[in-house]
Amino acid sequence: MRSVRPRGRSRFAAGLVIVAILAVFPFAGCEKLDRNMYDNPAFRPQEEPVRLPPGASVPTKGLEHTPNPGTPEAAALKNPERVTDFSLLTGKELYGIYCTPCHGASGKGDGPVAKKFVPTPADISATGYGSHHPEGELFAVVTHGKNGMPPFRSDLTAKERWLVIAYLRTLK
Ligand code: HEC
Repeated sequence: MRSVRPRGRSRFAAGLVIVAILAVFPFAGCEKLDRNMYDNPAFRPQEEPVRLPPGASVPTKGLEHTPNPGTPEAAALKNPERVTDFSLLTGKELYGIYCTPCHGASGKGDGPVAKKFVPTPADISATGYGSHHPEGELFAVVTHGKNGMPPFRSDLTAKERWLVIAYLRTLK
């Protein structure tokens, strides 16, 4: 009976050692056995080779192609949006946010920022620039900008730009 205890203890100790070795060994070995997770093909953003979309994939938000100002194509553009009292109100609101600082509430180029411009922004009301330019030309200018006039293609959607132009037509 006496000798059982120590033997039991040493067995327990040996068991612990084996468990410890088994616990450590698999992890220590992985790195050497399978390096997939270590040497994976990771790329930094924009790093070559850039992945191309699969062949025959169709963009859902196609690029906008608005002709440049001053071209006959721009002049031929027609407002595709229905002009209603409500859309004119939306156009007025957008004009107030994006255009009045330079063009003024009247469209005559008397906004607070306009004073800093040489030459000052044109009179874009229906009696000024607007009276001798088709709506498509105005749309192209607002889309692409012109000299000191900033482009609005990323700030306003095409629909919003047309609503602003429709509102411009009502400015006298
Ligand atoms: C940062 C000031 C600024 C803002 C904001 C601005 N414009 Fe202009 N805009 C100008 C200037 C300057 C010109 C004159 C460009 C030129 O012909 O040299 C101009 C010209 C124009 C013209 C053409 C007139 C011309 O002289 O060819 C139109 C149309 C126009 N702006 C509409 C708009 C509309 C609509 C908005 C709002 C969505 C707007 N602009 C916002 C500064 C601005």
